[in-house]
Amino acid sequence: MSQRLAVRFAGMSWDNPLTVASGIYVPWGRDMPQLPLGELGAVTCKSVSTEPWPGNVKPWFADLGADLGMLNAIGIRNPGIDDYLRDFTDELRAIGRPLIQSLAAVRVEDFCRLAARFTETGLFAALELNMSCPNTDGAQMAFGQAPEPAHDLVRAVRAETDLPIIAKLTPNTADVAAVARACAEAGASALTLINTVLAMDIDVRTGLPRTGLRTAGLSGPAIRPLALRIVWDVHAAVDLPIIGAGGIGSAEDALKFILAGATAVAVGTAAVRRPPVMGEILDGLDAACAERGTDIAGLVGLSHRLLAERAAAVAADRDSGAVTR
Ligand SMILES: Cc1cc2nc3c(=O)[nH]c(=O)nc-3n(C[C@H](O)[C@H](O)[C@H](O)COP(=O)(O)O)c2cc1C
Repeated sequence: MSQRLAVRFAGMSWDNPLTVASGIYVPWGRDMPQLPLGELGAVTCKSVSTEPWPGNVKPWFADLGADLGMLNAIGIRNPGIDDYLRDFTDELRAIGRPLIQSLAAVRVEDFCRLAARFTETGLFAALELNMSCPNTDGAQMAFGQAPEPAHDLVRAVRAETDLPIIAKLTPNTADVAAVARACAEAGASALTLINTVLAMDIDVRTGLPRTGLRTAGLSGPAIRPLALRIVWDVHAAVDLPIIGAGGIGSAEDALKFILAGATAVAVGTAAVRRPPVMGEILDGLDAACAERGTDIAGLVGLSHRLLAERAAAVAADRDSGAVTR
C-alpha cells in the first residue's frame, strides 16, 4: 500500500487510516468474519471488562436488511480481562498492527483498573473508553451522555496510563460536541464517533421486540448521515483527532468522513457482512488521493474549508450587489 495513506494518529504512526470498529474482531467469538487484520492501520479490539460479562438474554441480533443495517443487543459479552490476557495475548501480538484496546465498565474505578492492567502488558498502542454502549442497561452509555461524567471518567483514567486515550462517544445525547469538549479538557487524546444508536424493532407476528433486550444498538447504513453530521460538528468544535464510524461500507463513505474531519475511519457492520470491503476501502482511498494529487492527511476536514470558501464567495457577491438568483 502506498505512502499516501500513512497517518499520524494521536502520536501513533499507522500505515493507513482504516481500523475495524470495536466488537467485530472478537478473539473468543465463533463464526467471526475473516478480516484482513494485517492490512489495517490499526486493529480495535472488542470491549473487555474487569470481570466476565455473560451478555444479555438472546436474541442478540435483528437484521434490518442491506439498506438499514442491523440491531445488536449483545451487552458486551466478554471473558473479563484475566482470561482475555491469559488466552489471547499470543494471538493479539501476532496481528503485528497497533492495537487499540476497548475498555468496558460501569464504574470509574473499574475503567481505571482496566487501564492500568492493559497498560502494564505493553501490548497495546492506545486505549478506547467505551462510554457509549446502549446495551448495558444504559449504565455505560451514561458516561458519554453529559459533559461532567465524561470529564470525570477521562480525567480519572488519564492518571492511570501514559497511552493515548480515545473516548468513544454516543450519539444518544443532545450535544455530542459538548461531551467531546469535556473529554478534551480532561486529557483525552482522540475521539471515536459514533457508537450505535439506541433503537428497537418489533416482530409483528409475535408482537414482541425482536431483540432479547427490548432496545438495541442500530448500526450500518441507516446511521451514516447522523454519524457524518456528528463528526463534522465535533471536528469544528474540538481540536482532537477523530476516528469516524457509522455505516461506512465503501471507499466513498470513508472519504466523506475524512472530508468531514475524521483522521481515521472504523468499519463495523459492513465488515461483518463482507470482509473484503476493507481492502476495497483502502484501494479506493488510495485512488482518491492519487486523483487529487494529495496524501490522505490533505483531505482531512477539507469540506469545512471548501464550505467556508463558498460562504465567503456568496457573501462577497451579496456585498457587491450581484443578483444570486
Ligand atoms: C455486533 C456488534 C458488536 C459491537 N460491539 C462493540 C463493543 O464491544 N464496543 C464498542 O465500543 N462498540 C461496539 N460496537 C459498535 C461499533 O464499534 C460501531 O461503533 C458501530 O457499530 C457503528 O459502526 P458500523 O455502522 O460500521 O457498524 C458493536 C457493533 C456491532 C454491530
